[in-house]
Amino acid sequence: MLIHILGSGAGGGFPQWNCNCHNCRGVRTGTIKAAARTQSSIAISANGEDWVLFNASPDIRAQLESFPVLQPGRTIRDTAIRAILLVDAQIDHTTGLLLLREHTAPWDIYCTRAVHDDLTSGYPIFNILGHFRGVNWHEILTDESNFFIPGIEGLVFTAVPLKSEAPPYSPHRHNTVPGDNIGVRVENTASGKNLFYAPGLGSMEPHILPYMQEADCLLVDGTLWQNDEMIEAGISNKLGSEMGHLDQSGKGGIIDIMSDLGKPRKILIHINNTNPILVDDSPERQTLNKAGVEVSHDGMQIKL
Ligand code: MLT
Ligand code: MN
Ligand code: ZN
Repeated sequence: MLIHILGSGAGGGFPQWNCNCHNCRGVRTGTIKAAARTQSSIAISANGEDWVLFNASPDIRAQLESFPVLQPGRTIRDTAIRAILLVDAQIDHTTGLLLLREHTAPWDIYCTRAVHDDLTSGYPIFNILGHFRGVNWHEILTDESNFFIPGIEGLVFTAVPLKSEAPPYSPHRHNTVPGDNIGVRVENTASGKNLFYAPGLGSMEPHILPYMQEADCLLVDGTLWQNDEMIEAGISNKLGSEMGHLDQSGKGGIIDIMSDLGKPRKILIHINNTNPILVDDSPERQTLNKAGVEVSHDGMQIKL
């Protein structure tokens, strides 16, 4: 299977439109060694022709332009995206749905009931799409059962409930329910290899560890280097833990978790613009290199 990173940044992207933090200013003025990044989305295919879009970011238009395979031009209006899977109902993962409204058939959208509820109430994108071609909602259960996506042959999917935050417009904002956030295991039945994708990981619960240990590749939450990073940058009064993102450098953080894993290739995704790992020659990036952890970038491809 082919995994294509459409957007490796977190909400806001890099640089963020209104941000003058060290990184955003630096990438804008060309004074740091760093590549701009669009907002969090990946696409996966087993045959290179039929794709599942994981999350629909506000940058979807530019992302599709950047990856022509998704626009094969077989008919007058066409796409290679067969289905869309949402890991949460956050703005950075769902707003692109509005930009995909011209689809000529109802979109097949896979998400949990909790996400469906947010997208039909506090942020009613599904209702809005109902005025266009509509949404075929396919409920993703959070019982870790396998599921398949018709039209996407050769891939088996498993959703894993994760503790992170529900969006500000959710009734369970600070009182999350299973299904507000999921990680997804995707197995290629032909090669037997699997990916574990978890762009929003707020806490390392015991049921997640086996998925990480048995994965061939991990694409996990790279939002923040340190828990108080946004506070330090003078940007927000929120800790990463309050936003549902486990930091990389702290005790029990992502680096600690990763260093215990022997099997998988380890890659960070959903990287916030304040994160020093975005700077290619930063000491923090060197620490990651030493720990065998990679930083994803837009356009990166992984074959499993
Ligand atoms: C998050 O994952 O916390 C989001 O990126 C927040 C947002 O998009 O505003
Ligand atoms: Mn996000
Ligand atoms: Zn910034």
